[in-house]
Amino acid sequence: MIRLGVNIDHVATVRNARGEPFPEPVAAAHAAVLGGADQITVHLREDRRHIRDLDVELISSGVAVDLNLEMACTDEMIAIAKEIRPDHVCLVPERREEVTTEGGLDVAGNQDLIAKTVGELKTAGIGVSLFLDPDEQALLAAGEVGADAVELHTGRYANAKGEGAVMRELLAVRKAATTGKQLGMRMHAGHGLDYRNVWRIASLPEIEELNIGFAIVSRALFTGLTSAVREMRDEMLRARELVRDDL
Ligand code: PXP
Repeated sequence: MIRLGVNIDHVATVRNARGEPFPEPVAAAHAAVLGGADQITVHLREDRRHIRDLDVELISSGVAVDLNLEMACTDEMIAIAKEIRPDHVCLVPERREEVTTEGGLDVAGNQDLIAKTVGELKTAGIGVSLFLDPDEQALLAAGEVGADAVELHTGRYANAKGEGAVMRELLAVRKAATTGKQLGMRMHAGHGLDYRNVWRIASLPEIEELNIGFAIVSRALFTGLTSAVREMRDEMLRARELVRDDL
């Protein structure tokens, strides 16, 4: 099975652009669930540029599927997570000036802080994943800090040009996924996945969950969000079926 987490940050981006109360992220979450989303993913950034605290609360209390909260490893965010208690937290690096999350967490360089945060969140009953580049050393470090899961950053795969480069990046994701799974962690992936490139990642049997935002919200402008989510889910499941046929 492969799960789809739908990231609805950019619904909030549109809302905030005009300072109006709409479009509402919680309404988007309901529409995504109708299209088959297995979870709703939101990133509460330090500068609140899109998702705000109230959005997280409303989605957490009112939406039927799991909530996956992406957040930086800061005291403020840890306190919010303990208060709201999302089903899952994905720890991400965060820099104010970036347009989107640009790279994976440096686990080895922040081992004590990350291990402490993972422990605190797990004690609060929250599953913890780490957003990592598909890199062997990063996976080994993740195993050391007790993470339940790893979300592999697929940005390099998504941006690769030409079949050779695409296959190289895909192989890096596969290798990292194999290592992570051997270490007992669940393997997720996300960033830059769209309707054309998702199938190769979805066909990796080690990957159990994809978190996808920008491509789905963009397509939703033309087809509606429920339909955009359903189409993405269909693409993922078709890729998975092909693998099963090959076995
Ligand atoms: N996963 C993580 C950890 C992210 O930071 C993001 C971007 O917010 C996504 C997935 C979704 O990326 P995209 O919007 O490119 O699908």
